[in-house]
Amino acid sequence: MASDVDRRGRRTGRLVRVLEPAPDRVDPACERAGTCPGCSLRHLSDGARRAYEAEAHAATLARLTGARIPLPEVHAPTPRDGYRARAVARALPGEGGRLTLGLVARFGASPVPLAACPVQSPATRALLVEVEAALNARGVRAFDPDTGHGLLRHVVVEAAGPVARVVLVTATPTDSLDDLLAERPGRGVFVDCVPPRRFDTLRAPRHLHGPVAATFTVDDDVFAATMPAWLPQTPASLSSLRAAVLDLLAPGPGDTVLELGCGAGTLSLPLARRARALVGVDLERAAVIDAQHNAAAAGVTNATFRVGHADRALRRLLAGGLRADAVVVHAMRRPYGPAVMGPLRATAPRVVLCIGPSPAALARDLATAPWLTLDRLAFVDQMPGTAALLTLALCRA
Ligand SMILES: C[S@@+](CC[C@H](N)C(=O)[O-])C[C@H]1O[C@@H](n2cnc3c(N)ncnc32)[C@H](O)[C@@H]1O
Repeated sequence: MASDVDRRGRRTGRLVRVLEPAPDRVDPACERAGTCPGCSLRHLSDGARRAYEAEAHAATLARLTGARIPLPEVHAPTPRDGYRARAVARALPGEGGRLTLGLVARFGASPVPLAACPVQSPATRALLVEVEAALNARGVRAFDPDTGHGLLRHVVVEAAGPVARVVLVTATPTDSLDDLLAERPGRGVFVDCVPPRRFDTLRAPRHLHGPVAATFTVDDDVFAATMPAWLPQTPASLSSLRAAVLDLLAPGPGDTVLELGCGAGTLSLPLARRARALVGVDLERAAVIDAQHNAAAAGVTNATFRVGHADRALRRLLAGGLRADAVVVHAMRRPYGPAVMGPLRATAPRVVLCIGPSPAALARDLATAPWLTLDRLAFVDQMPGTAALLTLALCRA
């Protein structure tokens, strides 16, 4: 039996034959399901997968925080296929020396072309086909980390609205791609360089041509996102996420809301509409400028946005006398840490809503804030077929 070992030393074996299917086993409906490292749970029915993940996430939270919370329902706003508006595709040598944009397959199988991936949206798939064809017509070669030969490391494509964006990420600085896709309207094209042995997705994208900002719509709000601010990878889930955030945090008309990790303001606008005032903080300058623009365009006048790392921005806001009735702490995969969760107490909040894709990172933040008591949980299934669930943890001070 073929097997792979991942970075943590875990072994993965190839399924040879199903002798007796479990009642929750379904057809993965993807011809690459056996070798693709992407969605690992497509063979489970959606109901069983959500129940399994919710239990696993809640168990992680319970183990790390000691809190016992009844299992909540999982919000499931995302269709099983065609939901992803963003793809990060590796440049891989394909058949006949052609370059393939995709993922490294398991068990030595040929690369998984992301243009054929059923979870990518039709617009994202079409964009991948277009970019791949343009790169092959130019004879661009995939960077090989073993030999140091080749140019292209990966490509980020985003197609969440009328403007599509493409970032070509090379291993060495180059101007040889500067006119790629220049003749195509409605495409914002960028080039970036991530040197060998660095593993960032993007470092400092340089604009080549086309629009710099893309837009996406949630409910009736239109959001501009200016590179390097990213577009959401699952736009279809955002309306449901906003509803869940409003339901849990329940800001009142006299409340001041503090939002750490506000991005381009996707959650800020509905929160500001319910509250007296909202203060958003994000370390990404482009996102904060977008949030200011998006709030103004939506006629939201009670929201202000600050650029800064949450800990330093929080210190400055506290020194300025900020008090918050309700706080949103929206994390990426890493915890915000004690430098944020400790001083947050001085804003004297009634409720704190922690949101994050990693229950362990979220639990670490809660563990560093013993002044908070976990009260309610919610999960949003943004990426069906995978083991990921977005966790929302409402805490009371
Ligand atoms: C998952 S995004 C959420 C953005 C926005 N709330 C939304 O729902 O669209 C998390 C955001 O947190 C920001 N962020 C991550 N760590 C941060 C930190 N230490 N200080 C400030 N912002 C941070 C990121 O730049 C990013 O925009």
